[in-house]
Amino acid sequence: MSEPREITEQSVESAVAAALAAIASAGDSAALKAVRAEHTGEKSELAQLNAELRNVPNDQKAALGKLVGGARGRVNQAFAAREHEIVAAEAAAALEAEAVDVTALPSRYTAGSRHPLALLEDRVCDVFTGMGWEIAEGPEVESEWFNFDALNFDADHPARAMQDTFFVDPPEAHLVMRTHTSPVQVRSMLDREVPIYVLAPGRVYRTDEFDATHLPVFMQFEGLAVDKGLTMAHLKGTLDHFVKSIFGDEAKVRLRPSYFPFTEPSAELDFWHPTFKTGPRWIEWGGCGMVHPNVLRSAGIDPEVYTGFAFGMGIERGLMLRNGVQDMREMVEGDIRFSQQFGMVV
Ligand code: DAH
Repeated sequence: MSEPREITEQSVESAVAAALAAIASAGDSAALKAVRAEHTGEKSELAQLNAELRNVPNDQKAALGKLVGGARGRVNQAFAAREHEIVAAEAAAALEAEAVDVTALPSRYTAGSRHPLALLEDRVCDVFTGMGWEIAEGPEVESEWFNFDALNFDADHPARAMQDTFFVDPPEAHLVMRTHTSPVQVRSMLDREVPIYVLAPGRVYRTDEFDATHLPVFMQFEGLAVDKGLTMAHLKGTLDHFVKSIFGDEAKVRLRPSYFPFTEPSAELDFWHPTFKTGPRWIEWGGCGMVHPNVLRSAGIDPEVYTGFAFGMGIERGLMLRNGVQDMREMVEGDIRFSQQFGMVV
């Protein structure tokens, strides 16, 4: 049995003071809920004082009722105010905890990028397909006949030794790793009807050292045009258009007499650009010439009716010239940071 309570200003104030202190010290909504049960619930001091109103003499009912009612009102207000504070603080803490920093750098994953040699190869192809040329391909393990004989290299012609060839076993199969893309000229002439305008990009192999300016495996692109009435002027015009498309309008091409077994006349192709790091100057970039009549004949084309021009360039060297790469080895070492510098577009 709980003691009968007396409703006095003191007993009411002390119940209010206890409730207010507990409310003030409640730190979160769970604590506040417990405080509410203790200080305003059925068993709370104030609830019991309120119940006691039943027993007070009628003439004091109004005054004491007001006293207890006012006390309960103050306590309820304090609850409401504290509850408001706690809800606001808890919402702020949740926002803080779940905050997303929209300025933070995303965690990156490496998506890779296309190799700059492949990108440059694509651009070269685009220039020629833009002129209506076709893209042609040939095998990298090539028969000696296509790589040399059909291109007018005699069996013991010293020019065969110009290119350091990887021969493929067994020797009687007469297979080589193609030393240039020129055999695709002959394949294209055998596969197609004249007129022929083809560009053949691809990988070639030589027993070269692996150093800053040589790779044993590298890429070339070969151009071949066979039609009626083609001359060196068409060759020069095509190369001029090509270098301007790839390097910009100020680029120029110059031809210097040279020798290749499969062209006559033959020329070394030099290339000029005003923005070379070393200052404006001519740089050697490949070979070209008028297709030798013997080569046309080996593909069954009559050199009395048709003439052709051809050219061949190295793609790695093109990338060195165009993008200022100093060391060819960087192009094949497979370090993704090298490729990424070029992004998706060379
Ligand atoms: N095939 C030659 C080489 O790899 C380059 C070349 C020279 C290609 C003259 C040609 C050409 O088509 O006409 O060194």
